[in-house]
Amino acid sequence: MTTEQPATRPGNPRFSSGPCAKIPTFDLSKLSDAPLGRSHRAAVGKAKLKAAIEGTREVLGIPDDYRIGIVPASDTGAFEMAMWSMLGERPAEMVAWESFGAGWVTDVVKQLKIDAQVHEAPYGRIVDMAALNYDNDVCFTWNGTTSGVRVPDGGVIPADRAGLTMCDATSAAFAQDLPWDKLDVTTFSWQKVLGGEAAHGMLILSPRAVKRLESYTPAWPLPKIFRLTKGGKLNEGIFEGATINTPSMLAVEDYLVALDWARSVGGLKGLMARADANAQAIWDFCESRDWIANLAEDPATRSNTSVCLKFTDDRIKDGATFAKAVAKRLEAEGVALDIGAYRDAPAGLRIWCGGTVETSDIEALLPWIDWAFHAEIAALGEPA
Ligand SMILES: Cc1ncc(COP(=O)(O)O)c(C=O)c1O
Repeated sequence: MTTEQPATRPGNPRFSSGPCAKIPTFDLSKLSDAPLGRSHRAAVGKAKLKAAIEGTREVLGIPDDYRIGIVPASDTGAFEMAMWSMLGERPAEMVAWESFGAGWVTDVVKQLKIDAQVHEAPYGRIVDMAALNYDNDVCFTWNGTTSGVRVPDGGVIPADRAGLTMCDATSAAFAQDLPWDKLDVTTFSWQKVLGGEAAHGMLILSPRAVKRLESYTPAWPLPKIFRLTKGGKLNEGIFEGATINTPSMLAVEDYLVALDWARSVGGLKGLMARADANAQAIWDFCESRDWIANLAEDPATRSNTSVCLKFTDDRIKDGATFAKAVAKRLEAEGVALDIGAYRDAPAGLRIWCGGTVETSDIEALLPWIDWAFHAEIAALGEPA
């Protein structure tokens, strides 16, 4: 097998799973309309925040009676805020099949100490979502960013559930179809599929989630940054752009620009098609090689955003060292940045395939993975 370098390099080597590649047309001058140095409570600031909320509703197809808020501390802030504000009214079902889901389990079991049933699956697999008790509150991650395993669809979530479904959809929103009628709380951050900036989280509430907030007060105190109600009523202002504390208007402008770009590629459908094409190129690559495979065992659960791969060649004795060396080699060549597996995940590569990534860049990257793999095998001193 040749170890000659491929002739073509990706135009953009940014395949990180967060912060993710910015929109292909990105240029800092596109942010020149940001109302910098102005109050976010001035009319101009409020209008921008409202546009971010309504643009989210339009592009994601979120029902009119769902509330959408911009909250502090990115996806983590949004999900934590939801858990700490709404859980405890009834038992919880905590679902985890990778690192971030496991983090939410820790919050609920060790910090909030809520009566919880924990359902776990190892990296590469998914929990049986049909086996959960939806009369309890169910917390889960739609797309496991660190394992490349996703919920295939929401078909098993009952329409007449008594509990709330709370979904961390940060690496799914804008790439996968989210069934809003099955999701009571949904969170994501701008830095993922739309390649926006970190810092702010999006919190999407169904009418049932609002009802919970207005009918239940947790036994524990809530810091100001988490408080979604005022005098027992929903703080509606948060869902109209009156944020709890000061947002970055530069980040807001960047999100608005990304939403405009999303519309220009066909909205949600266009974004999903772009992610699908990117992921498919990698799946096909793996299919025709016997030394690399998708970490997701069931093809129905393969992520189309955070595609996680493992090396399966018997000659590799130390998987972690090998995978790191491949990623390092690719980074040194400037053809792929940040594609090593997540620190807690099995050794391998993780290639972001969300819509801001061009399929031509994925296609240009793949021969380089061939090259780096064979170069590292050669370096092992094993027969190539
Ligand atoms: C599934 C999932 N949840 C939560 C987070 C944390 O997101 P943030 O750093 O935006 O708070 C991430 C980040 O990668 C993630 O992938």
